Amino acid sequence: MTLIAQITDLHLRPRGLACYRVSETNMLAGRAIATLNALDPQPDAVVITGDLADKPDPHEYEGVQRLVNRLKVPVYVIPGNHDSTRMMREILTGVGPINQGTGDKIHYAVEIGGLRLVALDTSVGGPPHGTLGDAQLDWLDATLSANNMPTLIAMHHPPAVTGLKHMDGIGLTDSAAFTEIVARHPHVERIMCGHVHRTIITSVGGRVMTLAPSTGHQVNLDLSDRDDGQFIMEPPAFFLHQQMETGVVSHLAYVEAYPGPFPFYADENVSW
Ligand SMILES: [Fe+2]
Ligand SMILES: [Fe+2]
Repeated sequence: MTLIAQITDLHLRPRGLACYRVSETNMLAGRAIATLNALDPQPDAVVITGDLADKPDPHEYEGVQRLVNRLKVPVYVIPGNHDSTRMMREILTGVGPINQGTGDKIHYAVEIGGLRLVALDTSVGGPPHGTLGDAQLDWLDATLSANNMPTLIAMHHPPAVTGLKHMDGIGLTDSAAFTEIVARHPHVERIMCGHVHRTIITSVGGRVMTLAPSTGHQVNLDLSDRDDGQFIMEPPAFFLHQQMETGVVSHLAYVEAYPGPFPFYADENVSW
């Protein structure tokens, strides 16, 4: 059964520089790549859902290239609000069909085993909010209509409010139009997002949306009315989306090692 790994929001910096003073995103992303490479079984592909770079700066994309070169399986990427689609297309090679799309927007559809990945571009070339735009929404509707395979949609900005006021203030402007489209396509098994740097699960037009935490810093869980967001060094993690007979199952997996695993019964003669 097809297994897709999703990492997100790498926020790479030029060599030797931290992100936001204290988040060593280059090192942390490298540790995430090492964890992915140690997975057994290996995923059929790795999808990176945006904010590959932080500024962006060509040196940051050279770092992205070095990282993805270390992965053993095919890699697919989409931009986030911190990215430059122009630099991605100029510098990144071997990472999905990023030359496809409409103008500055990168979008494409590929088949990976028994799943179809539909990759969308919510970035708007600078500002932190996201917009899909009418041309990409029309392409999405036509692409979903053309093929009924179980489908994962990858997009950086979530098409839903999250309750984190600071992040909702830099959300997706045309989520209502997106929701109306996916509501008509029940073969969309998952909408996989990034941007909010937290594990979040909700539904969008009757489809399941999962949002993966960052490989670096996370956004502080604050459901109050404060609109000045803060970050926090909670554990980096990623999703493994596995196609099963009953549908796609999404597992949250941690980058770092924790004590264990332990057998449930240390003494096989134990009885209760
Ligand atoms: Fe981010
Ligand atoms: Fe973002």
